Amino acid sequence: MIDRIQKLKKQRNAVILAHNYQVPEIQDVADFVGDSLGLAYHARDTTADVILFCGVHFMAETAKIVNPGKTVLLPDLTAGCSLADSCDAVALAKWKTENPDVVVVAYINCTAAVKALTDVICTSGNAVKVVNSIPKEKRILFVPDQNLGQWVMAQTGRELILWPGACHVHMMFTHKAIFQLRQQHPAAKIVAHPECVAAVRMLADEVCSTERMIRYCRTSPAKEFIIVTEVGMLHRLRKEVPGKIFIPGPTDTCNCSECPYMKKNTLENAVAALENLTPEIVLTEEIRHRALTPIERMLMIGR
Ligand code: 13P
Ligand code: SF4
Repeated sequence: MIDRIQKLKKQRNAVILAHNYQVPEIQDVADFVGDSLGLAYHARDTTADVILFCGVHFMAETAKIVNPGKTVLLPDLTAGCSLADSCDAVALAKWKTENPDVVVVAYINCTAAVKALTDVICTSGNAVKVVNSIPKEKRILFVPDQNLGQWVMAQTGRELILWPGACHVHMMFTHKAIFQLRQQHPAAKIVAHPECVAAVRMLADEVCSTERMIRYCRTSPAKEFIIVTEVGMLHRLRKEVPGKIFIPGPTDTCNCSECPYMKKNTLENAVAALENLTPEIVLTEEIRHRALTPIERMLMIGR
C-alpha cells in the first residue's frame, strides 16, 4: 500500500496533506501533517496538481477554496464534522438579517456555505489574534464552537455572542475523569484542546491547537503529559518528542477519544482516491469566491 501510494503520488504529481488526528499509517506517508491552519497554508502554497487531503470535509473544502486550480481529493466524502454540522448556513443567514451590524467570526470547522456568510475565519491556532484584530466597539458573533468561543472571551476580555455548537468528541472529556487521572500522574502536565468544556479546560496547564501541543511538549521540562484531544494526536507527539510519556485523556467511558469522521480515511481509500482521482471536492464558483475573502483575512493575520 505504501509503495503504491508513493508511485501514484509521483504519477499524479500529488501532495498528501494530513491532519494530526489521522491514523498513524496515513500520517507516515503524508508530505505534511499539521493543524487546520498549517494545512490551509500548505494547500494554498502547493505547486502539485493534486491535493490528496486526509482530514475531514471542511478542511478539504478550505484547500479547494484557497487553491481552486488543483484537484482536491478526500478519500471518503462522508468524513464530516459534528461541529461543522452544528451551524447551518440558512439559520446563520437568518440570524445575520436580524442582527445586521454584528461582525461574524467563524471557526474554520464550518462548511463553505457558512464561511461565505462570515467576515473572518479563525482556527484554534489564531482565534485570539483574529478576535483582537477587530475594533473594540464592534459586536462579534462567534460560530460554531461555544467552547472555543468561551476560551477566546477569557483570553481577550471581549464579550462574544456564541453560537450554541460543539464537537461531540471533545465534549466527551469530563472534569472527573481527567482529575482522577492526574491524581495517578501528579507530575504530568495536562494539555487540552480549546474545544473541551470549561470544566476540563480549567484543569489544563496548556490550552492550545494541535500544532502548538507539539511545541509545548517539546519545550516543557516535564516528562509526562495527559493529552486531552483526539487520540490520533499522540502518534505525532511520540514520533517528534521522543523520550517523553504521552497519556491519552480519558472520558467517563473510555481511555481515549476517537473522531469517527477523521478515522474514515484509510490507506486503502487514499490509494483508491489517487488511482481514480475521485472523490473530488467540487464547489460552485459563487460560494468559493465568497468564502475566500474571510479565509484570506485569516491567512493575512497569521498565527
Ligand atoms: P486544530 O486546528 O487544532 O488541529 O483542530 C482541528 C479540529 O478539528 C479539532 O477537533
Ligand atoms: Fe470535527 Fe470534533 Fe472531529 Fe474535530 S474532532 S473534526 S471538531 S468532529
